[in-house]
Amino acid sequence: MLSQRHALITGGSRGIGRAIALELARSGADISIFYASEDQAAEATCNEARAFGVRARAFHCDISDATSVAAACEAVLATDPSLDILVNNAGVTQDSLMIRMSEASFDHVLGVNLKGAFNVTRALIRPLMKSPHGRVITISSVVAMMGNVGQANYAAAKAGLIGFTKSLALEMAGRHVTCNVVAPGFIETDMTSALPEAAAQALLSTVPLKRAGRPEDVAHAVAFLASDGAAYITGQVLQVDGGMRL
Ligand code: NAI
Repeated sequence: MLSQRHALITGGSRGIGRAIALELARSGADISIFYASEDQAAEATCNEARAFGVRARAFHCDISDATSVAAACEAVLATDPSLDILVNNAGVTQDSLMIRMSEASFDHVLGVNLKGAFNVTRALIRPLMKSPHGRVITISSVVAMMGNVGQANYAAAKAGLIGFTKSLALEMAGRHVTCNVVAPGFIETDMTSALPEAAAQALLSTVPLKRAGRPEDVAHAVAFLASDGAAYITGQVLQVDGGMRL
């Protein structure tokens, strides 16, 4: 159980991040979430989390902007200076074939997915190092290992997160902070609802377990990595993809 622990989840207003926030709250952790723009959804996640008897707060923050991250992290730590669990979950896609991909699109997708995780981790590394149960759990994607048509920017960012996490795992091991990646496959969220039906069906046909994943499937894996039972696991990539990439 995670009582007396404080978890921060980026992108906790909806989708996978919301499910992670609620699962960690169900396990007893106090919750802080960062979100980009959905005030009402962020507050709704916090209200649901509070029903588990924990504290929950939402902070507007653009994780791709180091100044915004510094201000939000300062606000988080002002009322709760300890942090035990960081979940780098926020992400975006901006798909296009390489022949049409703009520099702005490449920079934006790397800026949120990869540099965003760097910005937030760097801003919170000191309290995490002080925690006796420190955890950094970063959400990548199976496309980091497989590649995907139209996602050179996204796959590069998600692959970068794996190298980032393995390096961090080595640096933080002396402080008993574990750092792991969860790599989801095809999960039903607002992000994937933008896919054309034919593309969604084509993806689903590659899943041996024959269904799309649910945000809760990812949240359960994150809750395990956050638990004391996972204290001896670090630098790993846990795929939650229904067997999509074996
Ligand atoms: P979503 O689009 O439903 O939610 C994204 C969240 O990130 C939102 O809370 C949004 O406010 C936040 N966000 C976006 N840009 C931000 C910024 N600049 N600063 C702060 N917060 C920002 O996405 P979903 O599907 O829940 O994805 C969550 C994570 O899982 C992402 O990293 C995504 O790449 C990854 N993932 C998703 C898969 C899927 O099939 N849905 C598959 C593999 C990985």
